[in-house]
Amino acid sequence: MKAFLRHGRKIASFAPSSRAMARKVVDGIDWPRVRCLVELGAGTGPITAELVRHVRPHTRLLVIELDTVLCSRLKARFAHLPYVEVIHGDAAQLEHLLQERGIQQVDHVLSGLPLPSFPEELRHTIITAAARVLAPGGTFRQLTVMPLIYYRLYARYFDDIRFRFVPWNLPPGGVYVCRGFKRPPLLP
Ligand SMILES: C[S@@+](CC[C@H](N)C(=O)[O-])C[C@H]1O[C@@H](n2cnc3c(N)ncnc32)[C@H](O)[C@@H]1O
Repeated sequence: MKAFLRHGRKIASFAPSSRAMARKVVDGIDWPRVRCLVELGAGTGPITAELVRHVRPHTRLLVIELDTVLCSRLKARFAHLPYVEVIHGDAAQLEHLLQERGIQQVDHVLSGLPLPSFPEELRHTIITAAARVLAPGGTFRQLTVMPLIYYRLYARYFDDIRFRFVPWNLPPGGVYVCRGFKRPPLLP
């Protein structure tokens, strides 16, 4: 709530995701095969907490959060785990952050960023960066508290989009699970 009052559009939600939402976000991930996973905009860490329940020691989990205070809290909570790296950084710099770590491909990108409320150019930069680094068969997963409304936005970038509704969230929401990056994306 404090972060919401501090940053408004960058946070865009007054309550963290529920456990039901977190479960839906990770549903279907083939954990033994995952080498690298990235979470963008982790906030207080409800999705991160679900991720660390599942990730195997051979998986690298990068958690990127822009807000200084939230990032420190995430570090205090998760950075002792050897396969988790909490990064104080900007999702728009995703490719650079991966290059710095010698990572070329990512199996899944999970985003809690309030993308629809970002300026269009920033949103485009983040979605295309995430799509470009995805390994074949990888997914871009985007949380929302506005069920289905932004389907067409993600359809500009991805061929295959499934929406999973999550009624047990405050407010009710869901997750877009996107596959198959369209090159070039169909811009409005
Ligand atoms: C709606 S909150 C989501 C929190 C959490 N994932 C959840 O499900 O409860 C969005 C988060 O994205 C972070 N954020 C906003 N812009 C960002 C950016 N460019 N790069 C990384 N994180 C960003 C905000 O600081 C905030 O913590």
